[in-house]
Amino acid sequence: MKLILLSLVLAVCQASTVRQQRKFPDDFLFGTATASYQIEGAWNEDGKGENIWDYMTHNNPTVIKDVSNGDIAADSYHNYKRDVEIMRELSLDAYRFSLSWSRILPTGMANEVNPAGIEFYNNYINEMLKYNITPMITLYHWDLPQKLQELGGFANPYISDWYADYARVVFENFGDRVKHFITFNEPREICFQGYGSTTKAPILNSTAVGTYLCAKHLVIAHAKAYYVYDNEFRPTQGGQCGITISVNWFAPYTDSDEDHFATEIKRQSEWGLYAHPIFSSEGGFPKEFSQRIAEKSAQQGYAKSRLPEFTAEEKALVQGSSDFFGVNHYTGYLISATQNKVENPVPSMPDDVDAGTIVPEEWPKSASTWLTLAPNSILNALTDLKERYNNPIFYITENGWSTPPETGLDDDMRGTYYRTALESVLDTLDAGVNLKGYMAWSLIDNFEWMQGYAERFGLYSVDFEDPARTRTPRKSAFIYKHIVSNRFIDH
Ligand code: NOJ
Repeated sequence: MKLILLSLVLAVCQASTVRQQRKFPDDFLFGTATASYQIEGAWNEDGKGENIWDYMTHNNPTVIKDVSNGDIAADSYHNYKRDVEIMRELSLDAYRFSLSWSRILPTGMANEVNPAGIEFYNNYINEMLKYNITPMITLYHWDLPQKLQELGGFANPYISDWYADYARVVFENFGDRVKHFITFNEPREICFQGYGSTTKAPILNSTAVGTYLCAKHLVIAHAKAYYVYDNEFRPTQGGQCGITISVNWFAPYTDSDEDHFATEIKRQSEWGLYAHPIFSSEGGFPKEFSQRIAEKSAQQGYAKSRLPEFTAEEKALVQGSSDFFGVNHYTGYLISATQNKVENPVPSMPDDVDAGTIVPEEWPKSASTWLTLAPNSILNALTDLKERYNNPIFYITENGWSTPPETGLDDDMRGTYYRTALESVLDTLDAGVNLKGYMAWSLIDNFEWMQGYAERFGLYSVDFEDPARTRTPRKSAFIYKHIVSNRFIDH
């Protein structure tokens, strides 16, 4: 009996030591992420064209909470060497950043390339490479050239050709040194928020029709750019090209069939709409969601579904068109078929999900209304994606926490968030998910879209009152650096 007890105690001790010693693999890429409009500034310098955020913030300034804009932002256009120095201070392996389409092609069309734009990104990339930091480029992080918006933006099917031409210019100029390309950042936010509501530029609020047209054209644009890479550049450049989708975790509020079904519809609406056409073995828009929109459209008196269809050729083009699945993950929600339902959240937009969202009181709250620390959400989201889509290569391309400006440098809760998230990453690796890297959002404070500078996500704070835009590490920067350089989380 004594012997059994002793070996039990030993086994428990061993298990907890193993847990404490869990290491991130040597080739796991640790980095941070940013986006052009949020950090660069220099909105009209050296030949850059106007984009939809320049246009919206200049013509409709009060849509931004603090009536600010990204004209100067963190001024990374002039401070990029300091930004690379910060990457070194954090011991990063990689850095994900986006290109401003209108800095490279001022009108959006590929017949007029701005040499100063190419030169800026070349300098930036070369500075990273000097210090062995792997650059990861996002081609589109929400700043569409205004001239293309005037032609309809993502509601115009020609967007896929304009985008493929832009992608060719990018691969041609940077692909000799950059081996990770992400076509789009967060299609749902581009389409649903920009076209189907008023929470991102170009604030079209063009009903759910705009959202779904955008969704279809965007995934086709992604696929065309992917094949430009695959056919014309990969043979000599040998890198990878993928897409980043925002995947927060949705779990049923109760165990009822209704809550399970509502949760599945929510998942399909939030990320399945974009992931399913590309990563599933079926292709096209997800089945249950398509059926839901068809039924709703019929009830609403439309002769055909509001959800556009793919032709067989389009479906085949899109299916399998990604070397990896980039996941932006921040939080989780509980979904109820009956509670907290908001009918028609935007009056002109039919509510296609028909579910309520619940966030338990005890989940710690950030400065952003939508962001709490939901337990195990990384593990839950990634294992679900693994099962659904046959375990492709994954990168977590964003994950982070917001604080109000008053928090300053003492951001204990951000440190807690990162430690908790990275424990969940280790659980995810243990669960056999093919996860290859993790990018914290964000390197530095930046322009948080409709919230302006009222919500801060940086590991480094930026003084936006100071013309030099001085950057200073927060407490969380030291915590992240410690984990990145040791490759384990100590307790
Ligand atoms: C995801 C977006 O990609 C990024 O631009 C934004 O700042 C963060 N979420 C935080 O809201």
